[in-house]
Amino acid sequence: MLLLINIKSEREIELMKQAGHLNFLAHEEIKKNLRPGITTKQLDKIAHDFIIKNGGIPSCLGYEGFPASICISINDEVVHGIPSNRKLKNGDIVSVDFTVKLNGYESDSARTYIIGTVSKETEDLVNNTKLALYEGIKQVRPGARIGDISHAIETFAHDHGLSVVRELVGHGIGTNMHEGPDVPNYGTPETGPILKKGMVLAIEPMLNLGRREVCMLDDDWTIVTEDKSPSAHFEHTVAVTKDGYVILTGE
Ligand code: MF3
Ligand code: CO
Ligand code: CO
Repeated sequence: MLLLINIKSEREIELMKQAGHLNFLAHEEIKKNLRPGITTKQLDKIAHDFIIKNGGIPSCLGYEGFPASICISINDEVVHGIPSNRKLKNGDIVSVDFTVKLNGYESDSARTYIIGTVSKETEDLVNNTKLALYEGIKQVRPGARIGDISHAIETFAHDHGLSVVRELVGHGIGTNMHEGPDVPNYGTPETGPILKKGMVLAIEPMLNLGRREVCMLDDDWTIVTEDKSPSAHFEHTVAVTKDGYVILTGE
């Protein structure tokens, strides 16, 4: 089977950087509004309006029928939570994940926030999931392979007593939200597609405090941990450069 991985020109990477920057700014706007009592629907509207006001498209909205502009997943929810009248409360961990399209290009980023005070082990889950993302990103350079990213994330997670969700993976990204290749958060070094300058990847570890198994709720979107343990998710859109990487959804 022939697997095509899009290579973007420097001009395209520049356009994707602009999309990624708007994604970053929308995350900052959401962050400012996080507090106990706010509903996830209110956060969705804030993000939606902010992205539109700045000329972007909240491209999760309507994607395969998804009914909102951002995914908000609380505690045992792993990803793809649908904004609702649920209120954030002290002790929650809240994952916010969305794409922004600008200039015809997609950007994809996720963060997990702690609301008020949580247990030490839940705090470690959140901090270590973020660090696992950066362990993966550090592998990115021409000549490295997808399995190097996967293995770095998996090793870091296991070293910190966390399990790795396998049913959902990172992905290539460009004019489409999801392009090849898959970027699993588990795997073997020196295997998988070889990275080349101009590839753009969404790297996104989803790590659980308990067991790795997940299932889908009856809403056909929300993914939750089977054992109801908390789960965290961080994601950046990253381009392969001449000698390493640049994070397009970073500060
Ligand atoms: N942002 C998600 C990802 O990381 C996809 C969101 S699914 C949608 O791949 F339906 F909300 F768009
Ligand atoms: Co995402
Ligand atoms: Co993604």
